[in-house]
Amino acid sequence: MKKQPFHNFVVDHMTFLVEPGLYKTTYALFKLVLGVGPADVIYEKRRPLPGGKQVSMTFAARVGRDKDGRVPNQAIIAVVQPSEPKEQSSHVRTMLANRGGGCLWQHIALRTPDLIGFHQYARERGVNFITPILKDADEDLIQVFSGEWMLPGGSPTAVFFEFVQRDPSPALLKQIESGANRQAWFRDKTFLGLYGEKENEYRGGRITPFIDDALHRRMAEILEPYQLWEIDDAVLNKAEAAMLEYGAARKPQLSPG
Ligand SMILES: [Fe+2]
Repeated sequence: MKKQPFHNFVVDHMTFLVEPGLYKTTYALFKLVLGVGPADVIYEKRRPLPGGKQVSMTFAARVGRDKDGRVPNQAIIAVVQPSEPKEQSSHVRTMLANRGGGCLWQHIALRTPDLIGFHQYARERGVNFITPILKDADEDLIQVFSGEWMLPGGSPTAVFFEFVQRDPSPALLKQIESGANRQAWFRDKTFLGLYGEKENEYRGGRITPFIDDALHRRMAEILEPYQLWEIDDAVLNKAEAAMLEYGAARKPQLSPG
């Protein structure tokens, strides 16, 4: 495996699922313990309820930033609670219940300088993505979501990766700087795009894994004779060949219509 330019990942944000009973406490603790100020709540999305009321679905809190780079290096946690009415299905509620309740770290968004390049590279190696590459209207953000990190034939884990590329325009950087458009980093379209996709998966009971079970088992077979420290380039090349073979074989079926 050769390290490619798109393999230079930094954490863009992390997404944290909490039960409704923890949601407001989390908000307050982030403010009171982690020092999240008014300008640091960079996104908040509400769900309308019957009777004209609203409930908060998610908020994203910036817990720190480093202004050195061109793209601000910010540490951001997006918090999501199950906001659906009790009688309505909710993948967030199911994920929490499956994992024993309370809270769980759901996805980490890794930022790459070349998302298209990485996406192609990963697809060729049999990696599953649950969305096409989502492009924001302003085209300064593109993102894609992987399948869940799970055992072959195992239960859904609710843990996956998001991959993003940000190419903020000078105007956007100014907005971020001034706090005039605090939603510049997170947007409805992209948040709701993933939310809807996960909801469909959980309703259908078919959770896409990071790699298909068949490929997973093939890789496990290749790795089986070795201890972790014995996995050298020769073994990895064998595993990669299996991935490439698998990726090439399924390609025609998965190209979106
Ligand atoms: Fe995300």
